[in-house]
Amino acid sequence: MAERITVRVNDRDLEVEGGTTILQALQREGVQVPSLCHDVRLKRSNGSCGLCVVEVGEEHPRDVNACLTPITEGMVIQTHTQRLEEYRTVRLEQLLCDHNADCVAPCVQTCPATIDIQTYLRHVADGNFEAAIRVIKDRNPFPSPLGLRPRVPSPLRGRV
Ligand code: FES
Repeated sequence: MAERITVRVNDRDLEVEGGTTILQALQREGVQVPSLCHDVRLKRSNGSCGLCVVEVGEEHPRDVNACLTPITEGMVIQTHTQRLEEYRTVRLEQLLCDHNADCVAPCVQTCPATIDIQTYLRHVADGNFEAAIRVIKDRNPFPSPLGLRPRVPSPLRGRV
């Protein structure tokens, strides 16, 4: 069993498990710290999102990524100051500004119909519902049960 250490978090003493990162130790004690790229299944995160930033230190606190920084005895940590919240807001906006649901979603990776859900969602978000339904119809594996006619290539349209 890991050693318990005492730290000061948001102006109160807290006993946490040592030998972990700040993020892991605080999460285990129920202290919420925003995180995006950290996954509990990983020993360490890659530290790329920057949302887990916390202030460490008393007189001259410095910003550290909680998911990368080991927690140590007597550490003084602030997790939710106005400055940190503003930083996280800006950082999240930066992450989202060029990220238009273009990751390969788990449903696409495992869907035998391989419907392009990202494009569908993008059209819905843009209010282009006609284009959105076209995406679904292009690959719809169940046109009959859903009452849709299968898409017919344009040279054959009207003859079938
Ligand atoms: S959780 Fe993403 S940088 Fe720490």
